[in-house]
Amino acid sequence: MKKIIIANLKMNFTQEDTKNYLDELITLSESITNKLVVCFPYTSLALAKDMLLNTKIIIGAQNVHQNESGAFTGEISAKMLKDLSCKIVLVGHSERRMYFEESYKLINEKIKTLLKYGMRAVLCIGETLKERETSKTKQVLKQQLDQALNGLYENELKNVLIAYEPVWAIGTGKTPTGKQIEECAKYIRNVISQNFSEKAAKNMNILYGGSLKPDNAKTLLSLSEINGALVGGASLNPDSFIKIAKVK
Ligand code: PGA
Repeated sequence: MKKIIIANLKMNFTQEDTKNYLDELITLSESITNKLVVCFPYTSLALAKDMLLNTKIIIGAQNVHQNESGAFTGEISAKMLKDLSCKIVLVGHSERRMYFEESYKLINEKIKTLLKYGMRAVLCIGETLKERETSKTKQVLKQQLDQALNGLYENELKNVLIAYEPVWAIGTGKTPTGKQIEECAKYIRNVISQNFSEKAAKNMNILYGGSLKPDNAKTLLSLSEINGALVGGASLNPDSFIKIAKVK
């Protein structure tokens, strides 16, 4: 099965950096059979649209506003992203929840807007260290899923991917054990099965994210419940991103 490997470039790269990055990535990606997505900062999207035409790299963004248009100074709409050939958008990344106080109610609205415009949403969920240490992981994952997917129709779930990203693993160099990841991914499928159906749970793409590097990619991506990866730091270097993307 093909894996979905997503780069999250976060707040990095000028136009020139983006050009150099993509020049290298396009060449390196030719032999890759997995699906490759790069979530660019907004300011790189127009350049990415030009450079990635006729390549297999899919264009993604890191955020979107929940409203369709209007007086929301500084914000970017789903329609604007679609216009830049953006196919997929991250929602609910822990950095947005932490630094911008995004709630799962808001995240739910963002997902609905993206689906309305025919784009896919990568819903990020995951527990903090404190929540894990106090045995609240499952409770937190359930709450996040219940709120984020509230009111969605089952047939819309094919355009939603779930990234399980423990907050304590993001940018820290720490990763959960394979067993811990499998347990959470199974639990996520359980919740989806309860809220929607067994079929929806089985078909859901669940990605792992948090300190994924070329040297742990094989172990983490070969877990049976995991369908791909969301890569932050290691995706900034085309070479290390491709090493991760090569994992079968
Ligand atoms: P990281 O980030 O790979 O640098 O830990 C992952 C993410 O934020 O999605």
